[in-house]
Amino acid sequence: MLSYQHAYHAGNPADLHKHLVLAELLTLLTRKPRGISYMETHAGRGLYDLGSPESLKTGEAAEGINALTLRDCPLQTALAKTRAGFGEAAYAGSPLIAQTLLREQDRLHLMELHPAEFGALRRAVRNETTAVHKRDGYEGVLSLSPPKPRKGLVLVDPSYEIKTEYEQVAEFTHKLMIKWPEATVMIWYPILPANRHEDLIKGLKLNFIRHEVSFDLKDGEGMTGSGLVLVNAPYGADKCLKQAESLGKPILRR
Ligand SMILES: C[S@@+](CC[C@H](N)C(=O)[O-])C[C@H]1O[C@@H](n2cnc3c(N)ncnc32)[C@H](O)[C@@H]1O
Repeated sequence: MLSYQHAYHAGNPADLHKHLVLAELLTLLTRKPRGISYMETHAGRGLYDLGSPESLKTGEAAEGINALTLRDCPLQTALAKTRAGFGEAAYAGSPLIAQTLLREQDRLHLMELHPAEFGALRRAVRNETTAVHKRDGYEGVLSLSPPKPRKGLVLVDPSYEIKTEYEQVAEFTHKLMIKWPEATVMIWYPILPANRHEDLIKGLKLNFIRHEVSFDLKDGEGMTGSGLVLVNAPYGADKCLKQAESLGKPILRR
């Protein structure tokens, strides 16, 4: 099922929670000159227009990025570069945030299955360090693991359209840890009234950090918060999670 379109939700408080932490983790992982690998199971289109009919229809960015003054932080750097390149209404998805913050010695592998989203992604992130793959993200990341360079981060950001996807993410993470034990993994999940994210949490039989924020959206389709799981978090991640809580009104501690 591929009916989910991230354009309706880009720049909302949940997106910001994910993108703030992602940008900080990438900065921590690139402190040394050695290259890293960055992979995404569910990349989306990479670049969003907050003036598009989809974005204006939900108005979710108005409660997220448009309500927040980002102080000096890696996400601010990435978004400023995105606006400079694509205009004031541009908002970077995770692939473009990563590409903006990574270096020529780093490698990106981005999976996106939806044909139109894949086409837009390919146009948004075209460069020599980045490979885009039109394939299932779980299968694609596992088949490319362990990548070269071996140090790196995998972002798992599905749309959870199917109830069993929470369990699938836990299973995928275990398989990934067998193939690439040192990978840093960041999993995003929505907090919804049915609390299905607990299936993901219960299914994870390994050490991880869990970080959740809650917010009060006018119309978030029932979403009351946003959660992240970090496996093999780099040194300094605790500090960056705290920063994500203090960056603005939409980011609250749960
Ligand atoms: C939540 S969006 C990704 C947002 C993006 N990570 C960001 O933060 O900018 C999820 C994306 O996964 C895609 N998708 C759904 N199932 C997939 C699968 N099995 N493999 C790869 N991509 C998939 C959808 O088309 C959608 O674009």
